[in-house]
Amino acid sequence: MKKAIVIGATSGIGKGLAKLLVDNDYKVGITGRRTELLEALKSENPNSYITKTFDVTDTNIATKKLEELTTELGGIDLLIISAGTGEINDNLDFEIEKRTIDTNVIGFTCIADWTFNYFEKQKSGHLVAISSIAALRGSRQAPSYNATKAYQANYLEGLRQKATKLNEEIFITDIRPGFVDTDMAKGEGMFWVMSVEKTVQQIFGAIKKKRKVAYVTKRWGLIAILLKRLPKMIYDRM
Ligand SMILES: NC(=O)c1ccc[n+]([C@@H]2O[C@H](COP(=O)([O-])OP(=O)(O)OC[C@H]3O[C@@H](n4cnc5c(N)ncnc54)[C@H](OP(=O)(O)O)[C@@H]3O)[C@@H](O)[C@H]2O)c1
Repeated sequence: MKKAIVIGATSGIGKGLAKLLVDNDYKVGITGRRTELLEALKSENPNSYITKTFDVTDTNIATKKLEELTTELGGIDLLIISAGTGEINDNLDFEIEKRTIDTNVIGFTCIADWTFNYFEKQKSGHLVAISSIAALRGSRQAPSYNATKAYQANYLEGLRQKATKLNEEIFITDIRPGFVDTDMAKGEGMFWVMSVEKTVQQIFGAIKKKRKVAYVTKRWGLIAILLKRLPKMIYDRM
């Protein structure tokens, strides 16, 4: 039986992925801050899940909990970082920006580094993170969200380069969704909003193919091409 950990499995994409992994015979370690939601998910299939409550921004505790969870699972083949946050912040409220940076940069880096080092020792493993199409350009409405997603995308590229140099069976996948119908996706101007079910099916497909970067759903790949090519002169006025 393969073993996976999903960081941020109490809701949305992480929860959907955890369920899909269990449907595909994985034993899954699930994490998040809301214990009651972890226990509710576990109750659907008690033998397939192990829960661990922690906040990724509390980095000392996070690594200890990851170690405990890995021991309880008996090792890991796959770790998915889905924990993340982001809010519209038109007034540049620093507390919102700080919370976003603490979660999407500090917490993310702590989990990614711990996992990479674990896989390096093991000489194999697959690290997947849910960044975003937002990684491609800045945002006037949520500057820290897009900036932290750009950090994640860039960091994952660095880890992929490191894995390639090591020449071990270590794979790094950067998943960049467009809008997905979850608690996080609020606000106006959203389009092509995807269901969690469809999104996680496509993410799982990308994981199985060990894709380096995947836009989900596929048609968001077209938006990615457009975003990358849009001249600054036009983008700045949007
Ligand atoms: N929804 C979209 O349109 C969209 C698009 C592109 C990318 N994404 C990315 O997809 C990922 C998942 O988001 P989602 O849409 O599924 O939103 P969500 O339903 O709000 O899920 C976020 C998850 O992250 C966990 N989390 C947040 N802060 C945490 C912290 N400090 N410590 C531990 N866990 C934390 C939450 O668990 P607790 O609250 O229980 O801690 C929850 O399980 C995020 O990285 C997001 O940026 C989402």
